[in-house]
Amino acid sequence: MPEANRKMKDIEVPGTRQFANRVEEFPGCVDLTLGQPDFETPQPIKDAAIEAINTKSMKYSHNTGLFELREAISNYYKNKYDAEYDPNGEVLVTVGGSEGIDGILRAILDPGDEVIVPAPTYLGYEPIIELSGGVTKFVDMTETGLIATPELIENNITDKTKAVILNYPTNPTGVTYTKAQMDALVEVFREYDIFVITDEIYGENTLEGEHISLAGYPEIKEKVLVINGLSKSHGMTGWRIGYVVGHRTILEEVTAVHLYNTICASIPSQYAAIEALRNQLNVPEEMNAAYVKRRDYIYDRLVNMGLEVKKPTGAFYIFPSVEKYEKDSFKFCTDLLETVQLAVVPGRSFSEFGEGHIRLSFACSMEELEAAADRLEKYIGMLEER
Ligand SMILES: Cc1ncc(COP(=O)(O)O)c(C=O)c1O
Repeated sequence: MPEANRKMKDIEVPGTRQFANRVEEFPGCVDLTLGQPDFETPQPIKDAAIEAINTKSMKYSHNTGLFELREAISNYYKNKYDAEYDPNGEVLVTVGGSEGIDGILRAILDPGDEVIVPAPTYLGYEPIIELSGGVTKFVDMTETGLIATPELIENNITDKTKAVILNYPTNPTGVTYTKAQMDALVEVFREYDIFVITDEIYGENTLEGEHISLAGYPEIKEKVLVINGLSKSHGMTGWRIGYVVGHRTILEEVTAVHLYNTICASIPSQYAAIEALRNQLNVPEEMNAAYVKRRDYIYDRLVNMGLEVKKPTGAFYIFPSVEKYEKDSFKFCTDLLETVQLAVVPGRSFSEFGEGHIRLSFACSMEELEAAADRLEKYIGMLEER
């Protein structure tokens, strides 16, 4: 039988999926592996898509997306971050943030190019870097309070470095950055001829303070590619709408990859996204109010259990250390699932620097969260008696 690309041997099913897939084996299991809002897409957004299906052309759009959507994205950046992105040439609508990640990495990487990825971080970058011939250079944020500091970035830049990938609010830690922290990073980015890929898909899910977008730094615009989308902000994971904004010179190359990959994003979904960005900008705020309550609850429960944990200020994940019980997070999560039927994600899924931790999602009901905390507490009690 013919064989797949040799690089595929190193590409595993993500830890998030591995555990989510096992949930079905355990009736009554509490599932906190979820990487999507538990809120359904708001009705006016669905209605906008239905209306469009009945009244608009359903042929391909421009490769970069419907003009009205690119304009809505451009206006969003202008109004929220005072950032200028021309809807013609500086905004690209993609099939989720995922396709943005893929398009950017394939457009910029030559074989052997290094990409600095502060970690623990989202598990979607490494496979695409590797498939693009690049080299993933995870750098350890566990020694710097789960924050990418200027020193951490600068100390890891070599003459092979092509890009840095930041993700904030961060999946899986829920970490956000202050303006001062971002300013300091920008000082480093100014100095080096490298791309800064910034995955801000949880930007609207900032639970404390304000999201400081790298789009708000015009002095480094030609290096910055911002990934964003509606999956998390508007409960729209299934619509598959994301986007990239960036300087036109590099965005043209990303668009070329996108064009050969997908031609354009789904048209009904693009109309739904227009409604979301024009008229539903308060939706994330409503969701965030619920996330804050749940975050406070689960944080207190974890602290009371004696687990070391940083309070998340963004996204909908919390990332306690379980190292004092078990260093191998896959082992911990497997035993947790099999013993008390609680599914969470092993920290090692988010690079070696996530080892010894587990990721719990609080994109679930309060009842589920209470049940999950009770089960985790019971399990820890059992470990202490063993
Ligand atoms: C950090 C991060 N970036 C990108 C994505 C992909 O999102 P999308 O549904 O827009 O493709 C996810 C999904 O979990 C994510 O956590």
